[in-house]
Amino acid sequence: MARITASVYTSHVPAIGAALDLGKTGEPYWQKVFAGYEFSKAWMKEHTPDVIFLVYNDHATAFSLEMIPTFAIGCAAEFKPADEGWGPRPVPVVQGHPELAAHIAQSVIQDDFDLTIVNRMDVDHGLTVPLSLMCGQPSVDNFAWPCPVIPFAVNVVQYPVPSGRRCFNLGRAIRKAVESYDAPLKVQVWGTGGMSHQLQGPRAGLINRAFDSAFLDRLIADPEGLSKMPHIDYVREAGSEGIELVMWLIARGAMSDNPPKVAHRFYHVPASNTAVGHLILENA
Ligand code: DHB
Ligand code: FE
Repeated sequence: MARITASVYTSHVPAIGAALDLGKTGEPYWQKVFAGYEFSKAWMKEHTPDVIFLVYNDHATAFSLEMIPTFAIGCAAEFKPADEGWGPRPVPVVQGHPELAAHIAQSVIQDDFDLTIVNRMDVDHGLTVPLSLMCGQPSVDNFAWPCPVIPFAVNVVQYPVPSGRRCFNLGRAIRKAVESYDAPLKVQVWGTGGMSHQLQGPRAGLINRAFDSAFLDRLIADPEGLSKMPHIDYVREAGSEGIELVMWLIARGAMSDNPPKVAHRFYHVPASNTAVGHLILENA
C-alpha cells in the first residue's frame, strides 16, 4: 500500500521564483532566504518520494471570479507553468499522477469532501516556487522535477474560504485515501503559502512574528487544537493573505496521529512582503 512519509511546509512568495530565475540568489537580501533551504534540498535528494501531493492556492491564474472551486484536485498527466504576466517561469512542466489523483478523488469525495476534478490547469507560483525551493533549479541536461506531483488547489483568495478545521479533516481523509492505494508508493504532502503577510489596504506589509512562531509550535505539537482557530483570527493576526496558512493544516492532517519528527524548521523576515516559514516533518 502507499504511505505518507513526510510533510513539507513553506511560503511561496513569487519574488523568490524571480530571484531564482534571474540568478539573484547570491545577493545578500536573498542569500538569507535561500540559506534556510540548503538543508531542505539535501534532505529532498535523500528522501525523494514517488509522488508529491502539493496543496497550494491558485492566485486568480487558472481560476478567476468566473469559477471558484473551494478544493480542486489536478488529475491531468501534466500541468504547465502559468504565465502570471511576465511569461511562464523557466521551470519544467509538472508531471501529474492521474491514477493516484483519481483514487484520492474517489476516496475523499466518498468521504463527503466535495472536490472539483480538474483535467486541465496551468500552475502558478503557489506550486512552482515551493518546488524550486525544495528541489533547486533543474539543470538543462535533466530538465524535470524529481517526481510526479498532484496539484491540489484551495480557495483562500475569494470569500468564503474553508475553515482550518475542514482543512485538517480533509488532510485526514487524504491520508486514508493514500493508505488505501494498492501500490507501494512513498507520498509526501506539502502545505504552502503564508506565513503572516498582507498585500493590500492600510495594513499592507503586516508581519506578526509572535503569531507565526506560535503557529509553527502548535502545528507541530497540537494541530487539532490549532485547527479550531477561526478564519477571522488568521486575518486579524497574520494579515489578509495570512489565511493561506489554513492549507498547512491539510498537510498536517495527512500525517500520522503519532508525534512527528521535526527534521527542519526555518523562519525569516523579510522576503518581498512576506514572513517566510518552513518546516519538514517526518512520520515516525
Ligand atoms: C507575495 C506573497 C504571496 O504569497 C503571494 O501570493 C504574492 C506576493 C509577496 O510577498 O509579495
Ligand atoms: Fe500567495
